[in-house]
Amino acid sequence: MCGIVGYIGENSASPILLDGLKKLEYRGYDSAGIAVFDGDNVKVVKSKGRIADLENKLAETGDLAGFVGIGHTRWATHGAPTDVNAHPHKGGSGQVTLVHNGIIENYIELKAMLETAGYVFVSETDTEVLAHLFAYYYKGDAVGAMRKVMQTVRGSYATAILTADAPDRIIAAKKDSPLIVGKGKGENFLASDIPAVLKHTRECYLLDDGEIAILTKSDIAFYNASGEPLHKDIYHVTWDAQAAEKGGYAHFMKKEIAEQPAAVRDTLSPRIHDGRIDIPELHMTDGEIRDIGKIHIVACGSAWHVGMTAKYIFETVAGIPCETDLASEFRYRDPIMRKGDICIVISQSGETADTLAALREAKRKGAHTISIVNVVASTIARESDDVLYTMAGPEIAVATTKAFSAQLCVVYLLALRFARALERLSEEEEAAQCAQLLKLPEEIQALLALDGDMAALAKQFSMANNVFFIGRGLDYAISLEGSLKLKEISYIHSEAYAAGELKHGTISLIEEGTPVVAVATQEALFEKTLGNIKEVRARGAKVIALVSGEHREVAEFADHVIHIPRASSMLLPSLAVIPLQIFAYYMALERGCDVDKPRNLAKSVTVE
Ligand code: G6P
Repeated sequence: MCGIVGYIGENSASPILLDGLKKLEYRGYDSAGIAVFDGDNVKVVKSKGRIADLENKLAETGDLAGFVGIGHTRWATHGAPTDVNAHPHKGGSGQVTLVHNGIIENYIELKAMLETAGYVFVSETDTEVLAHLFAYYYKGDAVGAMRKVMQTVRGSYATAILTADAPDRIIAAKKDSPLIVGKGKGENFLASDIPAVLKHTRECYLLDDGEIAILTKSDIAFYNASGEPLHKDIYHVTWDAQAAEKGGYAHFMKKEIAEQPAAVRDTLSPRIHDGRIDIPELHMTDGEIRDIGKIHIVACGSAWHVGMTAKYIFETVAGIPCETDLASEFRYRDPIMRKGDICIVISQSGETADTLAALREAKRKGAHTISIVNVVASTIARESDDVLYTMAGPEIAVATTKAFSAQLCVVYLLALRFARALERLSEEEEAAQCAQLLKLPEEIQALLALDGDMAALAKQFSMANNVFFIGRGLDYAISLEGSLKLKEISYIHSEAYAAGELKHGTISLIEEGTPVVAVATQEALFEKTLGNIKEVRARGAKVIALVSGEHREVAEFADHVIHIPRASSMLLPSLAVIPLQIFAYYMALERGCDVDKPRNLAKSVTVE
């Protein structure tokens, strides 16, 4: 949440900062600002709204000229999205200029202390405390002042600071919020995420918690929390900047939906050899797998839906008890973890604050931790015992699609690997499952052809006030995802229910014309779900049924039937989710919503 950029070099800073901020806009987009040293002063321009609004304001005020600057795109936590609350913030009597991502938890007590010391606050943000606190401690020693700030504040932060006395330098530090440094030639960069610097350099340093960086145009120095100089290895980025561009598509979401065959192929194929599952990143012997007492899965949002899917799969395929928790609940419920239990955390960004805290809690309790992560070298990836990367490439749209599909693939691989170790799967069965997995990319590709059908359905249903999703078992897990996808980008109220639970209250919400999407792909549960379809139809619902294979009888009870191919029940979620993503996309388009940047949301939720 919130995006930070910094530039120091020989080129004009403003365009570089603005370009970087656009690449980070997925992290927050309710206000933005930049600060540039113009040779005499550090000048700030900021605006509520999108980066485009900031650009308009800069066009009015005149571009900020200068070669050193910092910038920020905000997702408000403390104080409304206004010009005043936007970053950068000034500290002291203007000698400090600072941007911040995170939350300063003890800001109220620090604010009181600073006010008593004579500092004047103009915004409602916790960030302004950080700016004044830095000014309070700063007597010319940047690392020393930063260390004192870090010792005083509680909470999470990635921060970039300019001081008026040394404007040819950017001071940066982080704890629990991501920050990377890009190394150029005669210029250096700072950003919350790699895509923001990729146009300029592929050589990055990934800051760890408690570390401080001092950037000049020709040098980058790192320090640990004790202020001692630190050597850091360069991380060479292998993917290219184009992967994070729209490439001719109207929206990132549309592009990312279309990239799913590749994401799935790239995630599966390196881990399947000659009909065997081979996951070298998983450091567990067959014996250790056999000793697993319970699998704890923790995640947020769509990744939690992958976790819900995984629960059914691990229990049925591998026969291992599995619990799936929302990370925000897990971290505070003192979960019971016994010897041999493992914890799987699922996160596209690898930075979600609650998921990271849940991972740390599981580690503290002694569980072997495995993360399923998309962003390479992200904090969750670095802190877990084993990391199994999804190979989805950069995902920019706030609503996840291709990372979700890639996460499902890692779950299948793990479930089959566990099942083999537990001798629940013969060699022949494993080979057959691998063959089916390898067919997934082309099956998903074929489903993308449902685009026109889903667009037509969206035209018909886009004015709905409520849309319900129902399903059983794995279909329930996918209903949860279909419903979230729809509500987050179209702003239509939507809920997903286990179909068997309908009669316990929800059915009272069904009226004449209420759209109900019934996910009924699981053969073993088909008759049961068909019964529920009949019940809602009898009460006036307009039913869109999603079935696997022919199932002609469903046409009698549903208004629209979407067919996906037959596949093994474990793999059907990968197919069922595709039309639901496309449906949500067109529903949002029909309603004129900003598909890639839905209101109030951010892609990377780095605050609790
Ligand atoms: C946000 C995103 C969701 C995502 C969730 C978890 O809410 O909008 O798409 O599923 O965070 O994010 P993570 O990066 O941990 O997968």
